[in-house]
Amino acid sequence: MGTDQLDQLRRDAHAQLDAARTTDELSDWHARYLGRKGALTDAMRQLGALSDEERPAFGKAVNALKTELSDAFEARQEIVRGAQLNEHLASDAIDVTLPGRPVDLGTLHPITQLVREVSSIFAHLGFQTIEGPEVEDAYYAFDALNIPKDHPARDVWDTIFVQSESREIVLRPHTSPMQVRTMERLKPPVRVIVPGRCYRYEALDATHEWHFQQVEGLAVDEHLTMTDLKGTLAEFARQLFGPQRKVRFRCDYFPFVEPGVDFAIDCMVCHGDGCRVCKGTGWIEILGAGMVHPNVLANVGYDPDRYTGWAFGCGFERLAMLKYGITDIRAFYQSDLRFLSQFDRATA
Ligand code: PHE
Repeated sequence: MGTDQLDQLRRDAHAQLDAARTTDELSDWHARYLGRKGALTDAMRQLGALSDEERPAFGKAVNALKTELSDAFEARQEIVRGAQLNEHLASDAIDVTLPGRPVDLGTLHPITQLVREVSSIFAHLGFQTIEGPEVEDAYYAFDALNIPKDHPARDVWDTIFVQSESREIVLRPHTSPMQVRTMERLKPPVRVIVPGRCYRYEALDATHEWHFQQVEGLAVDEHLTMTDLKGTLAEFARQLFGPQRKVRFRCDYFPFVEPGVDFAIDCMVCHGDGCRVCKGTGWIEILGAGMVHPNVLANVGYDPDRYTGWAFGCGFERLAMLKYGITDIRAFYQSDLRFLSQFDRATA
């Protein structure tokens, strides 16, 4: 190989280097010229075949070319890498001024919203919200509530039994067992409300669910009367259904209260004239209530001669159906987003 061929090599090498557009092409080029089996290594190997006079000059020329091409390679590499990076950035560009993709957020279940609303109403009246067990001892669900075993009233609550041999354990059919648990734990004065899930062995239809939610209210102190009960419930009803609501007490029977009442409001659809919602009566019953039975007070160790109390129990689904004009209770627990998303409002 002579100097001419070395010149040719240089020109080819530069031309091909300038043509390399990708890092792959660059490394091919590097292998071809500067690699262990590349053209310059070949040229070096030919030194031995040269005469003593030719050898130093040619060796120098090959080394110089090697340095030149190495520098050229590095320079080219910079350019190609820069170009590739720019290409990458351009294709991956993020427009920070575009609005973000909306995140799908769930909403609070309408019954949960109502539980919170009711808790807040009662909080303002001085009631504390507490919760209790859904799997309950029959003692709390019935016996301590003045419903002894074999009492016919025990059938009123179509109870789901969890265990019935040594100890009777039930899914609570109402929140009233929490009256007993609360009084066992606290000394009067007591003012609590207890929202929670309840279960009954019941066939599903438009107005019955085997699983539903109730709120229990309980107040015990010296000198509490039916007037306090009626006043509190009237305030509750008016906050929930409008300040114009008329309220009505009628006699009712629950073994754990004496006297017992059902509490109704005048129909907010027809204002008492009679319509489908109130079944023509002008009144809508929304809960059961009464003065805590002296036997119940005695069962928890309260002195019935000193203390009086009142309690009420109210179904949330029924309240929600009235409030929102829903005609089928099953809608609440079918997890149908078309239904649930209608109650999409920011809640505390
Ligand atoms: N626990 C009763 C029910 O579920 C309601 C109620 C509660 C009635 C408290 C009176 C007092 O039917």
